[in-house]
Amino acid sequence: MSNVWDKYLAQHEAHFTNSIIRDLLRLTEQPSIISFAGGLPAPECFPAEELTAAAERILVENPLAALQYGPTEGYRPLRTFVTERAAQLGINATLDQVMITSGSQQALDLIGRRLIGPGDLIAVEDPTYLGALQSWYPRLPQYVTVPMDEHGMDVAALEQMLKRTRPTFLYIMPTFQNPTGVTLAEERRRDLIDVASRYELPIIEDDPYGDLFYDGERPRPLAALDVEKHGKLRTVVYISSFSKLLSPGLRVGWTAAPESMVSRLVQVKQGVDLHTSSLTQATVYEACRDGLLERHIPSIQNIYRRRRDAMLSSLAQHMPEGVRWTCPGGGMFVWLMLPPGLDALELFHEAIKHEVAFVPGTPFYANGGGGHAMRLNFSLPTAEQIEEGIARLGRSMRGKL
Ligand SMILES: Cc1ncc(COP(=O)(O)O)c(C=O)c1O
Repeated sequence: MSNVWDKYLAQHEAHFTNSIIRDLLRLTEQPSIISFAGGLPAPECFPAEELTAAAERILVENPLAALQYGPTEGYRPLRTFVTERAAQLGINATLDQVMITSGSQQALDLIGRRLIGPGDLIAVEDPTYLGALQSWYPRLPQYVTVPMDEHGMDVAALEQMLKRTRPTFLYIMPTFQNPTGVTLAEERRRDLIDVASRYELPIIEDDPYGDLFYDGERPRPLAALDVEKHGKLRTVVYISSFSKLLSPGLRVGWTAAPESMVSRLVQVKQGVDLHTSSLTQATVYEACRDGLLERHIPSIQNIYRRRRDAMLSSLAQHMPEGVRWTCPGGGMFVWLMLPPGLDALELFHEAIKHEVAFVPGTPFYANGGGGHAMRLNFSLPTAEQIEEGIARLGRSMRGKL
């Protein structure tokens, strides 16, 4: 007999499941499989010694900061640190415009709780971050999707769309997007801020990968262009994270936004978790206050650049004709598009037989599609694993062509 909860759970099941993907990813966990399916940073990039020393110092020298309840908006020294970091990016914000979240994922959740009601229209890139869609499922939004190309979101198409309909906000990852790895071109960034200002379109800018650039310079955040245009944050809520720079297990992210948004998100956060762990916030501050990020980020970039290069050259060597892929300037992902006749989900099952895995494209599309595409992660596997894994992927495709 089912338990007393099941009939209630069944009512809302459709909004919470993404079971195909969960089941598929379970298949990728066997040790013999080379997996490009995850989205994890490489553990060798965690500054474990520095974090251990920082946690120890905090616990010995300032245990109250680490062990007591703290303010919902975050540990003040860390907020001050983040405010300075934001200013270096051109995002000039006051302390009241900055809050700490439990990972940047929590910022998405808080935004959903505060801003999205059933049936509300949200504009997203096509494809978009699966975790944002998962975060907002329970709020029952509807999506309008904006097409992308190798230069990022098609801003002209967005403007056409805004003439017909007005979404509550646009959610965008302009820099080394998850899942495509694509970056919004500088000119389009300016166009986007102009369009958003003209149409009063709020923008959520999700930027966990901006510091992971492997060629040239870090692209300027939309939030910096917003500040440049309006003298302060007006249009953009900027979300970032320490997950990809220090460690995702710490669960420390941050948001910079107009003060009225920060105060509302803090209100919501109070009901969700009171505050982000005092110990991890204090540890992050203690580790970073003497310039850890400046010393550490180049070493992550060197490791990931080598892996990105290994993936791009292996793809060039092993992919059959008609397969296309993105060439990301940073981040953790390559997006691969299959020729007509090849379906990513079918290919997934063939690839597993060849002991290689990826994420099929479909779940990244808010309104369906993506059967022709897949996401490949290059941050976790070593260059040698990448070369072998892409060779296996090529063989599994040839078996299907
Ligand atoms: C685009 C994007 N946003 C948000 C997150 C959530 O990251 P975290 O909560 O660890 O900061 C991720 C994680 O992979 C991501 O890719």
